[in-house]
Amino acid sequence: MKVTAAVAWKAGQPLSIEDINLDGPKHGEVLIRNVAAGVCHTDAFTLSGDDPEGIFPTVLGHEAGAIVEEIGPGVTSVQVGDHVIPLYTPECGQCKFCLSGKTNLCQAIRVTQGKGLMPDGTSRFSKNGQAIYHYMGTSSFAEYTVLPEISLAKINKAAPLDKVCLLGCGVTTGIGAVLNTAKVEPGSTVAIFGLGGIGLSAIQGAVIANAERIIAIDINEDKFEFAKQLGATDCINPKHFDQPIQDVLVDMTDGGVDYSFECIGNVNTMRSALECCHKGWGESVIVGVAGAGQEISTRPFQLVTGRVWRGTAFGGVKGRSELPDYVEKYLRGEIKIDEMVTYTMPLNDINRAFDLMHQGKSIRSVIIY
Ligand code: APR
Ligand code: ZN
Ligand code: ZN
Repeated sequence: MKVTAAVAWKAGQPLSIEDINLDGPKHGEVLIRNVAAGVCHTDAFTLSGDDPEGIFPTVLGHEAGAIVEEIGPGVTSVQVGDHVIPLYTPECGQCKFCLSGKTNLCQAIRVTQGKGLMPDGTSRFSKNGQAIYHYMGTSSFAEYTVLPEISLAKINKAAPLDKVCLLGCGVTTGIGAVLNTAKVEPGSTVAIFGLGGIGLSAIQGAVIANAERIIAIDINEDKFEFAKQLGATDCINPKHFDQPIQDVLVDMTDGGVDYSFECIGNVNTMRSALECCHKGWGESVIVGVAGAGQEISTRPFQLVTGRVWRGTAFGGVKGRSELPDYVEKYLRGEIKIDEMVTYTMPLNDINRAFDLMHQGKSIRSVIIY
C-alpha cells in the first residue's frame, strides 16, 4: 500500500513528506495505523547525524498511539481494532533477558531492529525500489507502519491516543526511573536534574512514590512553575550559586539526597547527580542520553562510601505487561500527560516540531494524523 510518511533521506536534512510503499505484515507482524506521535530528542539526535547507529534513509518516530489494522499469520495477542502503543523495547517473554526478571531490555529482535530491519532481515518500506529503513523498530512518523507483535502494548480503548502516545517514551521513562529502577520509598528526598518531558515525569513518579522532598534543578527558570504544579517542593537554578550544585544540595538536605535522577544527558550534571547523594545509601539514576563517545567520571571514593550509580532505559518498564497499567493510571488522573503536550500539528508541519524542540519552546509536540 501507499502511505504518507516523513522520510529522513540523509542526516542533517529536514524530513520530506512523501508517499512511500509499505508491504503488508509477514509472520508475527502487525499493520498499525498511527493516530498520533510525539517528537522526542532521540529522533532529533539521529536526524542530526551524531547517532553512530543512525541508518538512512529512514522513517523516524518512536512515541505513538495506534490502532491495529491487519494482523499477519501467527499473530495471537492482538486483534484488528485494538488500541496499541508501539514499543522500541519489545517484550517477548521468552529470551534470557525477559526470563531474568531483572531487566526490561528484551533482546529477541535487538540485532535486526538495530539495523533498521524487521526480524526476518528485510524492510517493509520502500520507494521506487529503494529500501527505506525502520527506526527503533517503530517508525511512527508514517500514517501506517508494520511492527512485530512483541513490540505492541495493547491498551484500554477509552484512552485518547493523542495523549497516551507520550507513554511510548518520555513520560514512562521518567516515571519508571523513579518507580521501577530506583524504587523510591515514601518519605525520601529526591533531586531531579533537568525539567524537560523526562524530568517533569520523574517529578510525577516521585509524587506517586510519596517522596517527601522533591528538589527540581534547571538552568531555565521558566520550567519552575510547572514543576511546582506537578509536586516539586524546591526549585533551584545552579547559575545562582558559586559552589558546585552538588555542594548546594548536600547543604540543603543534611548530607545529601536519597535518590537523584539525571534527566538532561550531560556528563557533568551526571557527576553532580551522583555526588549530591547521601553517603552510605544515596542512589543516582542516569536517565538522559549523553552524546556518542562521552564518558562519565567521579572519584571512586564516592562509590566506596556507599553511593550507587545506575542507569535506566524506558524507565525499566516492561512494555507489554506494565504499560497498560500506566494508561489506567492516566485515566484515573494519577499520571498527568495532557499538560505535557505543548503543541499539536499535522505531519506536514513536522519540521516545525523539531525547530520548537531545538528552541526549547516545547515539552512535547505531538503529530496528529
Ligand atoms: N543544568 C541544569 N539543567 C539543564 C542543564 C544544566 N547544565 N542543561 C540543560 N538543562 C535543562 C534544560 O533547560 C531543559 O529544561 O534540562 C532540560 C532538558 O529538557 P529537554 O531538552 O526537554 O529534554 P527531555 O525530553 O526531558 O530529555 C532529557 O533524556 O531521552 C533523553 O535525549 C534525551 O538526553 C535527553 C534527556
Ligand atoms: Zn524518546
Ligand atoms: Zn525477550
